[in-house]
Amino acid sequence: MIAGYLFFSLLLAIASATSVSDLVGTWTTKSRKVVTGPGFYDPIHDKFLEPNLTGISYSFTLDGYYEEAYYRAIANPQDPSCPKGVMQWQHGTFRVNKDGSMDLTPIAVDGRQLLSDPCESPKGAYTRYNQTEHLKSFRVSVDPYHGVQRLDLNSFDGSPMHPMYLVYRPPQMLPTDTLNPIGTGKPKAKGKRRVKRDTESAFSMKNLVNRETIGDPDRWLWVGVFMTAIGGMTLFRS
Ligand SMILES: *[C@@H]1O[C@H](CO)[C@@H](O)[C@H](O)[C@H]1NC(C)=O
Ligand SMILES: *[C@@H]1O[C@H](CO)[C@@H](O)[C@H](O)[C@H]1NC(C)=O
Repeated sequence: MIAGYLFFSLLLAIASATSVSDLVGTWTTKSRKVVTGPGFYDPIHDKFLEPNLTGISYSFTLDGYYEEAYYRAIANPQDPSCPKGVMQWQHGTFRVNKDGSMDLTPIAVDGRQLLSDPCESPKGAYTRYNQTEHLKSFRVSVDPYHGVQRLDLNSFDGSPMHPMYLVYRPPQMLPTDTLNPIGTGKPKAKGKRRVKRDTESAFSMKNLVNRETIGDPDRWLWVGVFMTAIGGMTLFRS
């Protein structure tokens, strides 16, 4: 009897635990406009492609590779009509630990960040970006409202990130090996020059929604719809 109960509990635990294979795919937040792969970062020209709405996206493969894309507005309390924008892209390998946490280790030379402050300068600051991540836990489930696969990630401190929804399985990703092997020896100067040139041609993040608090994605969706409706009218000085 007790053995049967234990066995049943074990089965239940196995059924409810999220395994690596559940993670496989491309996940994105509700706006669905930010998706990993060649539509977000163009490694050949070493530049970002600006999505139409803010959001984040993660992709995972069964053999331990990940890619992530972030496009977010950063609220500016001094002048709420002047938010900054940031785009970040990284890829590398991930590992699920015994305690259910996850570590993401990027390929340091490949990551990119574009930080834009349109009210200060029409040019963004384009740099390398290398940020390891520790996620305290993760869970894949079927979203009861949308009826689609949903990924919940919890940050290093356990705080929940925006839920993401499955958009591609197998995942949509750039090649998982090093894209930009310019981090060593002599070619480094060349790489730096290239990054600098791109800084000068950086776009103004025209699609940034007006005010972001890392808040309700629904609200951002509607702000986006509104922005589309008023078409062409720009809320940003460039
Ligand atoms: C943004 O929206 C416009 C109009 O719907 C579309 O033509 C364009 O391809 C979109 N851009 C991206 C990066 O999805
Ligand atoms: C990338 O970040 C890791 C972890 O913080 C660090 O150990 C490593 O030296 C960094 N690599 C580069 C090239 O900056």
